[in-house]
Amino acid sequence: MREENPAENRSNKDRRGSDRRSAGEPKSDSERRVGDRRKHERRIYQNPKQLNFIRFLKEKGLYPYEKAYDQPDGPEVIFEGKNIINLASVDYFNFAQNSEIKKAACAAVKKYGAGGFSSRYSMGNLRIHMDLEEKLAEFMGKESILIFNSGYLANLAVITSIMPKNATIFLDQKCHLSIHHACLLSGKKYHRFGNNDMAALERMLQAHRDDPEKWIVTLGVFSSNGILGKLDEIAVLARKYKARIFIDDAHGVGVYGDRLRGAAEHFGVLDEVDLIMCPFQMAFGNIGAFLVGKRYLLQPAHTETWPYIFTYNIPPVCAVSIRKALEILDRKGASLQKKLRRNVAALRDRLKAMGYEILNPEGHIIPILIGDEVLVCRFAHFLFERGVWVQPFFYPAVPKGKAMVRVTCTIGHTFQELERAAGIFAEARKNLGLE
Ligand SMILES: Cc1ncc(COP(=O)(O)O)c(C=O)c1O
Repeated sequence: MREENPAENRSNKDRRGSDRRSAGEPKSDSERRVGDRRKHERRIYQNPKQLNFIRFLKEKGLYPYEKAYDQPDGPEVIFEGKNIINLASVDYFNFAQNSEIKKAACAAVKKYGAGGFSSRYSMGNLRIHMDLEEKLAEFMGKESILIFNSGYLANLAVITSIMPKNATIFLDQKCHLSIHHACLLSGKKYHRFGNNDMAALERMLQAHRDDPEKWIVTLGVFSSNGILGKLDEIAVLARKYKARIFIDDAHGVGVYGDRLRGAAEHFGVLDEVDLIMCPFQMAFGNIGAFLVGKRYLLQPAHTETWPYIFTYNIPPVCAVSIRKALEILDRKGASLQKKLRRNVAALRDRLKAMGYEILNPEGHIIPILIGDEVLVCRFAHFLFERGVWVQPFFYPAVPKGKAMVRVTCTIGHTFQELERAAGIFAEARKNLGLE
């Protein structure tokens, strides 16, 4: 019998219109914000208006991305010979610069060479990769694991290949772009709910309660503002409606949980989450990603998942470095978490006292609301010129008129550095009329 392809069975309303809902029910604010499916699909690819805006920023010398610096210098970077305090990094534990890890990496380069080999399927599977997988699965307390060369690909693999063909996906609107792209590419039925809007999610689950394979997809920690996904409430809904859970916990693993297993551990629902994805660039200071979960979900991926098979594995030097980072996290993770929180609190308190509007009162990411799209770029430019690097976000990454900068501390920043950075933030408020 021919297997059902949900993409072929979708009605136009399912494909283009908003999500199925009971007739006559008024939309909540968050449902209105989620908006129309067609507009959303246009927004997740660069459109001519956005490209024009980028062109305008480049002409004005305000384009804030792709700056080529000379080299890192601890928690700072050297740009054209000048030191800039790096408050844009997500290498929270400064593992990319850790001397123990660098020593292990140098030894690995001598033994294995500088680069990669091939795909896992071919010549790219070394014993150190297998060893890393085993230790990571143990660290996360999950039965099975796969390593990918990027989080983007891992998300693509989960949505397009690992979830069954008849899956109905319910995803938080603020999921990473890779998840939105994967949903579109997968041809599966998917429905978006407003950020952390549990009432909207429940309404969707209720409307689709007879669908056989329901998957709730969200982030452990939302990357622009550091707010946690409501995983405790999601676990309750998943139980009630017999849905499975996939979380992308890029910014949660290592930072949250007594055993550093991330947001799901923090909420006490680790066992109820079916799949967790985490890139290595955050808590491990490296490149690639892992995906952990139940064996029955991940085992077939070795032969059936193209984003796993048709791409190179992470190079051995990365596997060795990540393995060393894991060892350090195991040894002194709690004290690293404490140090990170102390640094974040020190800077957040200073910024709040200056009158900046901080969109999240807690957590390890400090999101500052600026509002206007051009102003946020002027703001980031002003800071950079004076020696502080922050990450600006503007539409479509955040809603129109809600442009913001993301400020991230690492354990490597000294109080003197944070104090110096705070002084520059104060200057920016005065000079750009933000007071
Ligand atoms: C939440 C989240 N998911 C996925 C990714 C993608 O990971 P990668 O850069 O390894 O492709 C990122 C990257 O910033 C992220 O923040």
